[in-house]
Amino acid sequence: MADLVVKNARILLPDRIFDGGVVVENGRISGIKCNTDLPDADEIIDANGNYLLPGLIDCHVHFREPGASSKEDWFTGSCAAVAGGITTVLDMPNTQPPTITMDRLEEKRKIVMDKALVDYGFHFGATLDNKNDLMKLNRVASVKFYMSRTTGNLQVDSEAIIFEDFKILSEKKIPATVHAENNDMVEYWLNKLKDKKDADAMDYAEFRSNICAANAVNTVLFLSRIAKNRLHICHVSTVEELELIRKNKTSNITVEVTPHHLFLTKNDIKRLGNYSKVNPPLRSERDRKALWNAIEEGLIDVIATDHAPHLKKSKERDILTASAGLPGIETMLPLLLNEVNKGRLSIFKLIRLTSENPARIFRIKNKGKIEIGYDADFVIVDMDIEKKVRNEDLFTKCKWSPFDGWKLKGWPVKTFIRGNLVFDEGSIEKIHGTEVAYMEDGS
Ligand code: NCD
Ligand code: ZN
Repeated sequence: MADLVVKNARILLPDRIFDGGVVVENGRISGIKCNTDLPDADEIIDANGNYLLPGLIDCHVHFREPGASSKEDWFTGSCAAVAGGITTVLDMPNTQPPTITMDRLEEKRKIVMDKALVDYGFHFGATLDNKNDLMKLNRVASVKFYMSRTTGNLQVDSEAIIFEDFKILSEKKIPATVHAENNDMVEYWLNKLKDKKDADAMDYAEFRSNICAANAVNTVLFLSRIAKNRLHICHVSTVEELELIRKNKTSNITVEVTPHHLFLTKNDIKRLGNYSKVNPPLRSERDRKALWNAIEEGLIDVIATDHAPHLKKSKERDILTASAGLPGIETMLPLLLNEVNKGRLSIFKLIRLTSENPARIFRIKNKGKIEIGYDADFVIVDMDIEKKVRNEDLFTKCKWSPFDGWKLKGWPVKTFIRGNLVFDEGSIEKIHGTEVAYMEDGS
């Protein structure tokens, strides 16, 4: 007798759709079978002919603990994740205090262990002087480099140190993850912005311009070519970055884009005001189109949210002191399913970009695919449900979305983590999220 059977599903295998059911034993997928061959189980769930996708792995979230649990905590962040079809998150190190020593990592582990519903892993933060910690590092998804100032003040603005750190990570086979914006340029133009009378959200986006990002991408592409390390470039947002990446991409380089750069542009700044403030900023329609073309072309490896919740009150300040960052974990999958429904994105590409590739890039064991022996992390989506994103329906503690009011067709209805039904048409079942295991832990 199996623990769980999900029958009547259109199962998204990596290369084809299989009509049938998934069998789960001890939290793992133990069978993928035609409906007529399915065994008996303690629990049988009918997917009603809907798609069953591998659970999404969001490799870029800011769950704010320790230090800013008024914005998000691991319980609210987890609820938001599973409501959005996400079964694993990789959390960024710019918490307070930041995750920049082994002790801090252990402290974060203890907090998260008790509160997470979703499975999780951690990115570690590079600083100007934590080489010794990097050398000892294990059980992390990556080491994150903030090349310029953003939320959390964790910037590493020395190319020499970035290069030395890349060499250490190359030895240890741990990926480097970069927020690539050139610090000198960002600071120079932010200072100009301070001098401008009545500076607004549009000025912020204009001053923190494409060249800041492209210049930094150029630098890290070069440094990592020499250091021979694995490099993951976060939230690529401009035509210029894409051109550099196209010329220099090797199997060591992977590229991420966010839903906000795929769906919003400077035109949305009028509507969103300071709520639109994010690093890197919203870009032009030309940039947005180029990102979609790059997805089509296969240049982009991952779509991740950069879920960066901030309370309304910290957005409703003047543009210079307003917090930068957008929440996005609950809306990514519906936004993408809506594109699938419109015929603009293939469902196979969707699962590669949001599940299979993040698992591969961050060396996560037994996740990212519907396959026998893999964790039973999956999400049933109903491609016919059409409804509006509404701030009041969101699980995130910040309770707002830049997509409030958008009508989208295609929504997650049931989310399973290791065979547990955690999200079921709006209701949440509490389970204990567990930390992911890595293929090579570098130790
Ligand atoms: C992020 C945050 O708020 O933590 N903000 C953002 O604008 N993306 C930090 C970051 O990734 O830059
Ligand atoms: Zn981020």
